[in-house]
Amino acid sequence: MSALDFSTTLGNAWFPAPTFTASGCASSGRELAQFFDLRTMGGVVTKSVMMKARTGRPTPRMAETASGMLNSIGLQGPGIDAFLAKDVPYLIEQKARIVVSIAGETVEEYSTLARKLRSVSGISALEVNISCPNVENRGLVFACDPEASRRVIDGVRRTIGGELPIIAKLSPDVTDLVSIARGVVEAGADGLALINTVLGMVINLDTMRPHLGGKTGGLSGPAIKPIAVRAVYQVHAAMPQVPILGMGGISNGRDALEMIAAGASGISVGTASFGNPTAIMSIQNELKDLLIEKGFTSLRQAIGYAHRPESE
Ligand code: FUM
Repeated sequence: MSALDFSTTLGNAWFPAPTFTASGCASSGRELAQFFDLRTMGGVVTKSVMMKARTGRPTPRMAETASGMLNSIGLQGPGIDAFLAKDVPYLIEQKARIVVSIAGETVEEYSTLARKLRSVSGISALEVNISCPNVENRGLVFACDPEASRRVIDGVRRTIGGELPIIAKLSPDVTDLVSIARGVVEAGADGLALINTVLGMVINLDTMRPHLGGKTGGLSGPAIKPIAVRAVYQVHAAMPQVPILGMGGISNGRDALEMIAAGASGISVGTASFGNPTAIMSIQNELKDLLIEKGFTSLRQAIGYAHRPESE
């Protein structure tokens, strides 16, 4: 038996482990459940759900890149009513801890989604995805605009009340991430998910045109890890009391520990699960071993460690 306290909190939600799926990379967990028991990780962050069913963007919607990949899915999903009827009951049956991710086209749509979710039991937290890059125009990436991001979070907070923690998912594609983060926290976010994918593009040299049907896509995988670590570090330095779910290119326990040391209270695994569906389990075990090896007796002691003066 290990003497390590591996638990973490995001707002008032407690999790036995700091390891989560990244929204969009494991849908509602069904595909992963054939490989491991969903209860054994921190929690499942579901694919961002919208009001209505969506088919998403035109194909091709994926492209491999050096040390990563681009996706241009476009928030494909069943819509909130089908999600509540099928996916949430499934996850509750699996005894998974659930973080529901929502996305809207308007400030009002986010609040309506929050209204639908506020009386649903069995949900640990709400991720408010205001940073999906695969939308019709950049004006819909609320997280790139301080005022729009505040308005979304303020609306969700007012609708949902004080109980359910709100985690705002932000984009790295901004000049001053800290000011956006501060704005959403002031508007009522209990925590932050950092980072969403980075806007990118691939040109197909056969056609000499953009490869993706949606032209641009979100870059994920190891290529973006240093951007994610930098984002977590900067935001934790400015607001050390705000829990961060760190993600972006985490592929092994060392990557996870880097993110924790930068200031994340938990980590999400996305792209690594595509090549290896049990990646999250190996990452969880490796992180645990590394913490013990380094003499920590709790995850908490390692959170933000990189901010301590060298003399400590
Ligand atoms: O295109 C997508 O569905 C991606 C969503 C996201 O990155 O937030």
